[in-house]
Amino acid sequence: MVRLFHTLSPAISRLNFIYPRIFLTASPSIKLQRNHVHNKLKPKISPSSSSNFQRTRAYSTTTRVSSLTKRESWKLDDDGLVVLGIETSCDDTAAAVVRGNGEILSQVISSQAELLAQYGGVAPKQAEEAHSRVIDKVVQDALDRANLTEKDLSAVAVTIGPGLGLCLRVGVQKARRVAGAFNLPIVGVHHMEAHALVARLVEQELSFPFMALLISGGHNIIVLAHELGQCTQLGTTVDDAIGEAFDKTAKWLGLDLRRSGGPAVEELALEGDSKSVMFNVPMKNHKDCNFSYAGLKTQVRLAIEAREIDAKCPVSSATKEDRRNRADIAASFQRVAVLHLEEKCERAIDWALKLEPSIKHMVVSGGVASNQYVRSRLNNIVENKNLKLVCPPPSLCTDNGVMVAWTGLEHFRVGRFDPPPPAIEPDDYVVRS
Ligand code: KG4
Ligand code: ZN
Repeated sequence: MVRLFHTLSPAISRLNFIYPRIFLTASPSIKLQRNHVHNKLKPKISPSSSSNFQRTRAYSTTTRVSSLTKRESWKLDDDGLVVLGIETSCDDTAAAVVRGNGEILSQVISSQAELLAQYGGVAPKQAEEAHSRVIDKVVQDALDRANLTEKDLSAVAVTIGPGLGLCLRVGVQKARRVAGAFNLPIVGVHHMEAHALVARLVEQELSFPFMALLISGGHNIIVLAHELGQCTQLGTTVDDAIGEAFDKTAKWLGLDLRRSGGPAVEELALEGDSKSVMFNVPMKNHKDCNFSYAGLKTQVRLAIEAREIDAKCPVSSATKEDRRNRADIAASFQRVAVLHLEEKCERAIDWALKLEPSIKHMVVSGGVASNQYVRSRLNNIVENKNLKLVCPPPSLCTDNGVMVAWTGLEHFRVGRFDPPPPAIEPDDYVVRS
């Protein structure tokens, strides 16, 4: 199945969720030759499935999907599958246990709030150390709260990218230790795919093809998801993501960053007049579905400087007038940042419906999708186009272990996973990033 889109727009490019950063296996020889299948899996997987243990960095979905056709008829006992998901791609250490039927058995998150506030953003080395300090406890808590032990698991899923290499490594090493010690298959998960697919846990009706706008601190993409692991990217940011713009706005406005910048800006914006500061909507003259937030960030910085707002003075200690100024900037920034999303989404929906007229849903996920203003504005756009918006609850929009466990389950079900790693890693073992 080859799709060519260049006649529609050069901006549309084919995107498979690529696994670029971290390899789950020690070396290619180990990857291909080890074939320990967990006993629990034996009745469910035919011998021919072993070729699927050979997970590739960027799996060629065309061949893989066709080779899976037979397997689609497997009757997996979904309730019987239980997957542990581990997420450490940025500043949250998260783990969760999810059942094949979508039941969330546990969800644990340890955030690095104090570090965020101290460094005014994520500092990779400090973040890595913080992950290393808590990863064992977070995973143990997730198992305890689910009332399970490792022996009850069907597989371990772990985020392998994109993200901060140092941080991803902590999660991958933990996943390998658990999977190796208990002879469990391991599923490498793409962080952005997980943000999109968790919507299928919350909305049973959500089937392929669907659209997804994924908005986080580092990514701002709009995709048309054709099937598991295969999508067309309709637009991406040419510079910064919207979450980065929220975070910098919060920092420059002297807001409390302990919950990350977005929620702080959203809260202050409620007090402000969203039309009081005239920011320009980015990329007005670009007839594509790409995004840009660097220019808006600069506009915000200049507005803050013009009003002589001192970020070192926390908003909680600001005078009434100063606070009002900050709230006006927060509200005006939020309105324009979201207007940019609205305009690009509208265009992307039109394009996507030409490619796949059967689309019924648009997913909006990633940390910024937990913003209530974002949700309600995008809901209007999506409904006007006769689609249904699927927005996971805020706790599943920001980084979490459930989305990793669920995406792991989706792939595991169709035979996409790696065999258990060795209980004791070989000397040549390195997790490359
Ligand atoms: O997906 P996510 O948790 O982590 C990444 O993958 O980056 O997204 C984090 C981003 C941060 O920039 C954070 O400020 C933003 O999501 N965010 C919000 C809100 N909650 C989190 N932005 C706006 N409004 C919110 N309520
Ligand atoms: Zn994320």
